[in-house]
Amino acid sequence: MTRVALITSGGDCQGLNAAMRGIGKALYNHIENLEVFGMFDGYRGLIDGDYKFMQPGDFAGILTQGGTILGTSRQRYIPGKDIVDEEGNSLIPAMKDTYNRLNLDCLVILGGNGTQKSAKLLMDAGMNVVTLPKTIDNDIWGTDTTFGFQSAVDIATNVIDYIHSTASSHSRVFLVELMGRDAGWLTLHAGIGSGADVILLPEIPYDINKVINAVEQRKKNGKSFTIIAVAEGAKSINDRVLSEEESRKKREDAGHSTISYEIAAQIEKATGQEARVTIPGHYQRGGPPCPYDRVLATQFGTAAAELIVNRQYGRMVAIQDGAIVSIPLEEAASKTKFLPTDHPLIRVARDIGVSFGD
Ligand code: F6P
Repeated sequence: MTRVALITSGGDCQGLNAAMRGIGKALYNHIENLEVFGMFDGYRGLIDGDYKFMQPGDFAGILTQGGTILGTSRQRYIPGKDIVDEEGNSLIPAMKDTYNRLNLDCLVILGGNGTQKSAKLLMDAGMNVVTLPKTIDNDIWGTDTTFGFQSAVDIATNVIDYIHSTASSHSRVFLVELMGRDAGWLTLHAGIGSGADVILLPEIPYDINKVINAVEQRKKNGKSFTIIAVAEGAKSINDRVLSEEESRKKREDAGHSTISYEIAAQIEKATGQEARVTIPGHYQRGGPPCPYDRVLATQFGTAAAELIVNRQYGRMVAIQDGAIVSIPLEEAASKTKFLPTDHPLIRVARDIGVSFGD
C-alpha cells in the first residue's frame, strides 16, 4: 500500500486544483494499492490530523476551479529553523506524529517560496516530501516559472488595460499597485503587457524626481495621462535601507496606506496633475487558471506523481528551459528568486522608453 498526503499551503493561487488533479489522476493510474489523504487547510490539517480520503472522483471536474478544494493556511515560519504556533512552540513534532500515525510514504506539498523552505524542515525532520512550485509571485528558486503566475499576469494586465481609457479621458496619472511581495516579476510582465509608462519594482529603487520627470516629459510630448505600474514592494532610493516594517510605519505615519498612495501624493504635489490609485489586490489570485497554468500545473502534477512512483523524495518539480525537471528541495529552499536587474525584459522595456524611475 502506498499512502500519500496532499497539502496546499500558504497563499492560494490559480492552478492548485489543476495540479492536484494531475497528481491524483496519474497516481491512481500508476499505483494499484493507493490511499490519498487530502489534508485540510495546509499544514494545519497535518498538525491536527484533519483530512479526507480522496478517491479518483475527487480529482474530476476541478481543472478550471480557482482556489484550493483542500483549503490553505499560513503558519509562522522561523527562517531555516522551525514552524511554530503563537507561543513559539514547534509544530513539527505534531506533524511528524500525524505522518507516522497515518503510516504515510510521502507528503506532496504545493506551495510558494515560504512553503518550499518550511517543507525542507519537514524533510530534515525525517518525512518524505515532494513539492510543487505555486505562486503568483514567481519567486521560487530553481524553476523558470510557477503556476499561478501567468494567470495573475493576465488579470493584472487586464486591470491596467481598463485603467488606460479612464486615465486618458480624465488626463490623470494612474498608479496600479500589483502583488508580488518583494519580487517584481508580476509587475514587470503586466507593466510591459499593458503598455505602462513607468514601472516601479522592488529590485530597482526609484528616485521620485525621476518618476515626476517621466510624468512631466509625457505632458511635454502631448500625452495628458501617465500609467504607472507599481509593485507592492517597490522602494524609493531613500528608503531602500529601511526594513519592511520600518517603511510601512514611516508611510502610515505620513497617512499613506500603501506605497502607491505615497507616490501619488508626491506626484500631485510636484505636477499639479490629479493622481489616482487602483489596487486589484487578491483579485489577482482569484478565479480560474489561464490555459497556460492549466497545462503547467498538469505537467507539474504528473511529474510529482512520477517522483512518488519512483520513490524519489526530497525534490521539487520545476520547469527549466521548457523542460519539466525536478531539483533537490534544499536547492529550491536555499534562496528567493528575485528579478535580476539585468533581466532581458528590463532591457526590452527600457528600449521602448519605459521609465523605472532610476
Ligand atoms: O505570496 C502571494 C501573495 O499574494 C503576495 O503577492 C502578497 O504580498 C501576499 O501573498 C498577500 O498575502 P495574504 O493573502 O496573506 O494577504
